[in-house]
Amino acid sequence: MSKQKRILVTGAGGFIGHHLVKRLKKEGHWVRGADIKLPEYETSAADEMEVLDLRRIEDCLLATRGNIDEVYNLAADMGGIGYITANHADISRNNILINAHMLDASYKNGVQRFLFSSSACVYNQAKQKDPNVTALKEEDAYPADPEPGYGWEKLFAEELCRYYYKDFAFETRIVRFHNVYGPLGTYEGGKEKAPAAISRKVALAEDGSEIEIWGDGEQTRSFMYVDDCVEGLIRLMASNHRDALNLGTDELTTINNLVDVISRIAGKKLVKRHNLTGPQGVRGRNSDNTRLRQTLGWEPSISLAEGLKKTYPWIRSQVTSDALELAGVDGD
Ligand SMILES: NC(=O)c1ccc[n+]([C@@H]2O[C@H](COP(=O)([O-])OP(=O)(O)OC[C@H]3O[C@@H](n4cnc5c(N)ncnc54)[C@H](O)[C@@H]3O)[C@@H](O)[C@H]2O)c1
Repeated sequence: MSKQKRILVTGAGGFIGHHLVKRLKKEGHWVRGADIKLPEYETSAADEMEVLDLRRIEDCLLATRGNIDEVYNLAADMGGIGYITANHADISRNNILINAHMLDASYKNGVQRFLFSSSACVYNQAKQKDPNVTALKEEDAYPADPEPGYGWEKLFAEELCRYYYKDFAFETRIVRFHNVYGPLGTYEGGKEKAPAAISRKVALAEDGSEIEIWGDGEQTRSFMYVDDCVEGLIRLMASNHRDALNLGTDELTTINNLVDVISRIAGKKLVKRHNLTGPQGVRGRNSDNTRLRQTLGWEPSISLAEGLKKTYPWIRSQVTSDALELAGVDGD
């Protein structure tokens, strides 16, 4: 076991944060979680789980009190492409406040290392117009033309981390996630991402029926299973790499193929009905993992099919129990 540390995970009520807390506890660390809400599907494994609004500097100072060694700042107002396209003002304001205040409170309270969770949405949109993408290298974020709202605020928060290192020698790490999925992630309500949304649609569909897909389904992405994500986070925090680093797989898939993989796991034959007016984001996006391999001597290795085999049954059990509960409320 590595030396026991005192670690703060913000966003610990959310998907990646909750998984990270469990892993850090397994490694024997003392962990505080902070979030505006508690985890939805399980009790937090954190030693202390505090409900705080991290847009407020006072709450960030509380979260970082008491000799915290490391902060994983995962709290953010975010969601799938539908949500981030429809809420530019709210998302940008909320996340600018969270990131600026968390960074400053961590520095002022003497935290040793601060990791900021950025996103592949920072990449220049002109480089993502073709579904046969050239995978994105870290330097492809500039010249800046990121996703409106969410991408701009992430890119600026990356810069802010660099300024805190340059001006105050505050140790910051910057990770750019490419679509993360797995059990215990949001699967309904508008904030879910493609693997969860499609798993839900497949689980609810009768064999042989139709499901709706946003766009023509030929848009491409890569998807990383949450265990790989957590492993990469811990490795990056321990490294000396201060520049932004991709964390994703380079297994490119179309959304149509994603539907096929999930349908096969579910044992269903489904017809795809393409909704061409649905939001679909950039046309194609993949992660270039050259720097990730060089820096961490490692890269995510869990295949899409393997990860979905663990994710689909969890989502199916959730939507089936939701359906049963509804039936109970109706008295059927
Ligand atoms: N999941 C992905 O595919 C993905 C991709 C790129 C970047 N990211 C980034 O990774 C981080 C974690 O993402 P996730 O998938 O776990 O999302 P999530 O939505 O499950 O978790 C984010 C958490 O932040 C919390 N939060 C929001 N506003 C808050 C506030 N004012 N105060 C305190 N907590 C607040 C939410 O309640 C939520 O629990 C985020 O920064 C996100 O932008 C995720």
